Amino acid sequence: MSTADDISISVSSQKELTINDKTDGKITGRLMLAVFGAVLGSLQFGFNTGVINAPEGKIKDFMNGTHIKRTGEEFSEDALINLYSLLVAIFAVGGMIGGLMAGWWADFFGRKFGLILNTLPGIAAACLMFFSRHATSYEMVIAGRFLVGFNCGLYTGLTPLYLSEISTPNIRGALGTLHQFGVVIGILLSQVLGFPEVLGNGQYWHVLLGMCIVPCGLQLLVMPFCPESPRYLLITKEQEDKALSSLRTLRGTSMVDADISEMKREQSNSRAEAKIGMLHLFKKKSLWMPLVISIIMHLSQQLSGINAIFYYSATLFKSAGVSETTAAHATSGIGAIMVVMTLITIPLMDIIGRRTLHLTGLAGMFVFSILITLSLVFQDQAKWVKIATIVVSLCFVVFFAIGPGSIPWMIVAELFSQGPRPAAMSISVLINWIFNFVVGYLYPFLQKAIGHYSFIPFTGCLALSWIFLFKYLPETKNKTIEEISSQWERKPKEGFVAKEDTGLVHFKTSL
Ligand code: GLC
Repeated sequence: MSTADDISISVSSQKELTINDKTDGKITGRLMLAVFGAVLGSLQFGFNTGVINAPEGKIKDFMNGTHIKRTGEEFSEDALINLYSLLVAIFAVGGMIGGLMAGWWADFFGRKFGLILNTLPGIAAACLMFFSRHATSYEMVIAGRFLVGFNCGLYTGLTPLYLSEISTPNIRGALGTLHQFGVVIGILLSQVLGFPEVLGNGQYWHVLLGMCIVPCGLQLLVMPFCPESPRYLLITKEQEDKALSSLRTLRGTSMVDADISEMKREQSNSRAEAKIGMLHLFKKKSLWMPLVISIIMHLSQQLSGINAIFYYSATLFKSAGVSETTAAHATSGIGAIMVVMTLITIPLMDIIGRRTLHLTGLAGMFVFSILITLSLVFQDQAKWVKIATIVVSLCFVVFFAIGPGSIPWMIVAELFSQGPRPAAMSISVLINWIFNFVVGYLYPFLQKAIGHYSFIPFTGCLALSWIFLFKYLPETKNKTIEEISSQWERKPKEGFVAKEDTGLVHFKTSL
């Protein structure tokens, strides 16, 4: 255990250490392996989010066929729709439970073993879905979707947590973006494998669903060779020796003093709070602001309407007059654009910064959401307006990828110190899953009710979240976790207002 003396460093040496932190961002082989291992979880989430779109008709045929075999009768149309909606919705229910448990799971099992253990529900789910066809049991598909939802819910908490805890401040943005990069690769893979000519057909839909065994299987092989999060070892478990060896492996050098000192300062600041549970988080006033910002960040992502485009793009394209197959291929075009744009933003995160990219992304989405509404309203006026609907939808997606796609996932881990971080992650991830489900479920009703104006609620939410975040979202680029989280500790009474760069210098002179 470290003593107070260990951590009493003079102000000037703190300055030097912070400068060292900023220059030390070597990408070692072990760091890359750890990132790869963790991002397989993100890929799993993306794959299972997208996989259910293509084989809808085939799975419904299977459900109906099973019912006929059992009872000699077909399902009524309503019964079939309800059963299929259950299959879709239960993924989100599993996700909410997994998301809610992620913080506890990460602290109880550790980040590394937590990820390894999470492969088991993923593998079990893949087996259930794969063998459902042979067992003539649609119940197995439903159980599998629930279990894989739980598995993905845990991943959406565990992966960003692990990524942020193994990185240095100057590459934390890039590594954090890799979570969303894994998500969009997973979505694209599910779209391409879901083409009718590949696996999205009556013969192979169960293989398509069972493919989610691959990311989990790979992760099970890779993660044992990855180091545990040094922050977790030092601050949560107080195992300094293990933290040191993990840091040395990750950084590829034994000169890890700067990292260790920074963590010890964070440890000393948060020692009083140790581990903070979810209820506790609501009670601690100094944590309200980062919690509200985290929640609004996730709301700004989900209430932007991205999944209305993403889940219903095929309908949108068909309404613009293209054939069904072309619509399926164009949908994968959206997936491909997301991959390319997310890739481009990886280096930008630590150069331009999270605040600027997120606000630019939301502003662009705001403008294009208005253009989507206009193009839908005037769709019948001329043929080019239909094409314009597709073009403006793609621009909307591009702006999503610039910031709102990835930043909410990474920022929560940055806004909180070690004690409250897992609980804050759980709450934010839960909010994300709830509103993902709400939009996916309610959008068709909204479309029915207000037709071409169905994007207006999203335009309103984009405007409101932009205003709030413009005022309160701090820049976290290049700052140590301790520097970021200390902002809330120091000025709870004065009220926190984000500046473009509340910056290191500002922080250090206030020491
Ligand atoms: C983000 C969102 C998810 C969305 C995806 C699209 O990961 O959380 O809901 O489907 O981006 O790329």
